[in-house]
Amino acid sequence: MTQTSTQKQRDILVTSALPYANGPIHLGHLLEYIQTDIWVRYQKMRGHNCYYVCADDAHGTAIMLRAEQEGITPEALIERINKEHQADFADFHIAFDNYYSTHSEENKQFSEYIYRQLQKNGHIATRQITQAYDPEKNMFLADRFIKGTCPNCKTDDQYGDNCEACGATYTPAELLNPRSAVSGATPVAKESEHYFFRLPEFTEFLQTWTRSGTLQPQVANKLAEWLDDGLQEWDITRDAPYFGFEIPDAPGKYFYVWLDAPIGYLASFKHLCERAGIDFDHYWKPDSEAEVYHFIGKDIINFHALFWPAMLHSAGYRTPSAVWAHGFVTVNGKKMSKSRGTFIMARTYLEHLNPEYLRYYFAAKLTSGVDDMDLNLEDFASRVNSDLVGKVVNIASRSAGFITKRFDGQLGTITETDKLSTFIAAGEDIASYYENREFGRAMRRIMELADIANQYVNDQQPWVVAKQDGQEAQLQAICTNALNMFHLLMTYLAPVLPNTAARAAEFLNAEFDWNSRSQRLENHAINKFKPLMSRVDMASIDKMLDASREDQSAAAAQTSEAQTNLEPVAAEIEFDAFARVDLRVAKIINAEHVEGADKLLRLTLDIGHGERNVFAGIKSAYAPEDLQGRLTVMVANLKPRKMKFGVSEGMVLAAGPGDKDIFLLSPDAGATPGMRIM
Ligand code: 2FM
Ligand code: ZN
Repeated sequence: MTQTSTQKQRDILVTSALPYANGPIHLGHLLEYIQTDIWVRYQKMRGHNCYYVCADDAHGTAIMLRAEQEGITPEALIERINKEHQADFADFHIAFDNYYSTHSEENKQFSEYIYRQLQKNGHIATRQITQAYDPEKNMFLADRFIKGTCPNCKTDDQYGDNCEACGATYTPAELLNPRSAVSGATPVAKESEHYFFRLPEFTEFLQTWTRSGTLQPQVANKLAEWLDDGLQEWDITRDAPYFGFEIPDAPGKYFYVWLDAPIGYLASFKHLCERAGIDFDHYWKPDSEAEVYHFIGKDIINFHALFWPAMLHSAGYRTPSAVWAHGFVTVNGKKMSKSRGTFIMARTYLEHLNPEYLRYYFAAKLTSGVDDMDLNLEDFASRVNSDLVGKVVNIASRSAGFITKRFDGQLGTITETDKLSTFIAAGEDIASYYENREFGRAMRRIMELADIANQYVNDQQPWVVAKQDGQEAQLQAICTNALNMFHLLMTYLAPVLPNTAARAAEFLNAEFDWNSRSQRLENHAINKFKPLMSRVDMASIDKMLDASREDQSAAAAQTSEAQTNLEPVAAEIEFDAFARVDLRVAKIINAEHVEGADKLLRLTLDIGHGERNVFAGIKSAYAPEDLQGRLTVMVANLKPRKMKFGVSEGMVLAAGPGDKDIFLLSPDAGATPGMRIM
């Protein structure tokens, strides 16, 4: 990439929030990575030194318990999830310069170093606190790991801080019949010594920092309210057992995951610096001229705009140039929902739709603000179809054939100099829209140009000119003009559509370089045109929604069947209720794939006196042919349920962490079909 002399080359470090290593990437996450990636690609196109780093957020109680539930070590869990995350990101064309993990040696070093600096500067306080403790699991319980009966409306099975039924908020101590969501034991109160970061000491510093152009105006206003209300000291300690870094000189005490998570930005960048020979200190020393930007969701502003700058400041590092928050994703105007099928995993999307559709749709609707983003699926299809397929790609497909067939792939000379000058000049506005994260405006301006290009082709009617004798030069000029317009449009769209841009570059036999975009493609050989993008069809969207619903029912089936100790122990039932559950040994006499279902198998079960048709989410562990003749336990008197693929007449019980490990009865269990289990 070239750099124009008028522009100063900038050194920029960019991050997106680190996703937790205990679950898959979904569309809600993707808004942020797509937004960041577009911005970074734009900066790189301008010739700046721009690095984009991220990592998995690998620590904390949830990850520890999830690993335990799967019967694996936390290290094995986070390694597996890291691979899944990286594959999802790569397939959405999110191009990190480094993707790491907070469970790394670098992160441990930085966390310890920063902690010691805070301590040295008198910014760490120590005191005894009393917390709920699970005497069976021997662990302290955060509010969300305590369940009980709501003190207000008496609904059972409510979390420790609020009631889903009546909306009341309370402390775990006020819950009736409290129990540990981990073991079911009744929590007891227990004391422990904790370390606190003395955030109130940074009030003045933060008042200045949050008002110095580092935050969006709405965010700065919110923070002003928090600052006026007075800051609290921040508890950075968690007691063992915990998956994280042990606090230096405090055996059995760990850094709270949110302490070492943002430090993971430093660690991931350090890892990149070592590999690529970049000067880390140039980016992080106080008063550095390099720029550092964090893209985050609006739910984690306090961590990034209060704790993080204060920690950096105390430890002697520079603070971020800016923290940019975005809103949440809704689908069809509502919160993403498992039952509506709108809780869509990245992988499920990729199985049905082109990732660049989503990149474009998000770009077309993104502003620099914190408003929520609605993915309206009909609007999604119609925008992609009318803008990308109908307008942009169409320009190339209408002109390319003539150049290939009639001119042996050679472009002629440009005759529409004025129009092309408009296209080139528009690059200045579009650049400033990208720079200011006004991607929606950038897309609108690009589509205005695409309209001009299409109007030009409509007016010139190359298909008519092609039939006229002696109009060869005219035909070549029309197509040359149109393809130069297309070249500029794709230059401007390249940060959003990197894959289409790469294929268009191959077709045009030219690069998309923002800074030298005024160079014309004249008397230049192009390659044969291949379709660059196909239309979105609603049928694929429907299939994606069905698959998402199915993901959830398979996940639910696995949770209820295989989950051991993370799922809170449910409310007690009377013996009568248990006795009404008719558990029978069943023999699998037939097993088959279900057309269109990724996770389910259709089982025909012999329960001694009759056969049952049951759908089971065990396809990940068994091929149908391995199941024939196997025994299992089934709930024989479950009311038949109508599922998407047919009626399921019961439920098969299995155990195990899921995926490849879902266990039925041993083939030689010595049981006979129909035998009742009590
Ligand atoms: O909210 C989350 O998903 C966190 N894992 C984000 C961490 S961002 C950073 F601070 F590491
Ligand atoms: Zn209630």
